[in-house]
Amino acid sequence: MVSTVAFRGTVAAGLWARTIFWTTNVRNGTCRTITTSRSTFHENPLGIPRKPLPQVPGRGPGAGPAPTIPRMQRGLPQKMPIKGVKHIIAVASGKGGVGKSTTSVNLALAIAGMNKRVGLLDADIFGPSIPRLMNLSGEPELTGTEDRLVPLTNFGVKCMSMGFLVGEEAPVVWRGLMVMKALQQLLHQVEWGELDLLVIDMPPGTGDTQLTISQQIPLSGVVIVSTPQDIALIDARKGVNMFKKVNVPILGVVQNMSLHVCPNCNHESHIFGDGGAERTAKEMNLDFLGDVALHSEICQLSDKGQPVVVSRPNSKHTEYYKAIAFKVVAKLWPSDTIQST
Ligand SMILES: Nc1ncnc2c1ncn2[C@@H]1O[C@H](COP(=O)(O)OP(=O)(O)OP(=O)(O)O)[C@@H](O)[C@H]1O
Ligand SMILES: [Mg+2]
Ligand SMILES: [Zn+2]
Repeated sequence: MVSTVAFRGTVAAGLWARTIFWTTNVRNGTCRTITTSRSTFHENPLGIPRKPLPQVPGRGPGAGPAPTIPRMQRGLPQKMPIKGVKHIIAVASGKGGVGKSTTSVNLALAIAGMNKRVGLLDADIFGPSIPRLMNLSGEPELTGTEDRLVPLTNFGVKCMSMGFLVGEEAPVVWRGLMVMKALQQLLHQVEWGELDLLVIDMPPGTGDTQLTISQQIPLSGVVIVSTPQDIALIDARKGVNMFKKVNVPILGVVQNMSLHVCPNCNHESHIFGDGGAERTAKEMNLDFLGDVALHSEICQLSDKGQPVVVSRPNSKHTEYYKAIAFKVVAKLWPSDTIQST
């Protein structure tokens, strides 16, 4: 416990830390302490132990083998698949607070209910939501070889989030370089096992994280989430254009919170406007994947870590997410005969 606090405190202290101690509880109940010296802190913000590089004759200690990429290609981002993962999709939007995380979670669970092995990666380093939404906490264990993080699992979906490594109220006080390195570790040093689909819950914006993910891993596509207000749609358009620019296919647009159904009298109203995201999808020549109504139950159950798709499987809310999931699966596996459970 003391070491956990030390790790959390040190993450908050960011670059000032001389040494980070990261204690992982291993299955037999004992603790293992991992030490990362300051000199490697930028390179290894999550403190994952690394195997020493072999010494190569003619090159300095730890220098590793000489680079083999032809000179012309150096500096260009190289896409690297995530081991064992067949498809990777991102759930994104230029705008914050439009329901990306809620959609990611319920979409992942709905697809898991269609006999797919699904993982969920929280790419929001500063504001991770997946631990709360998936009712998961605790530090991830390391694999036997000690260089990969083992995801935490709930409702049959494997999850990884920066939120597992820092406390819910502890801020991550890092500059961009550290954030990008942490993101790379979350992308390439997690032991997902065999997955049909990895869903990535993106932070808002069209910045470093979006570019890193688009350029470093082969995305099968992006699901854009937007509310129907103009202010959200402007940012959603920016999101679409950014992914188009880096040649990532857009799977389609989800309209969140268009319809509000009063929980008392079932009166229907369009608080944030009517059909704006659907119109935008049409204008941008994108598929419309479906609507999710604004309902207090979605919000309340999400906050409790009981996503509606699993806690209210027969509700209207679950129907919305299942309809979206069905369309996404049909795009990723066009030849599948889809079995919904
Ligand atoms: N359809 C919905 N009905 C009711 N509440 C919703 C709905 N979708 C999302 N919410 C609520 O809206 C809030 C924002 O949702 P969420 O965290 O998923 O957005 P986000 O786009 O991921 O935000 P951020 O940009 O901060 O990551 C949350 O409180 C969530 O429970
Ligand atoms: Mg979010
Ligand atoms: Zn009412």
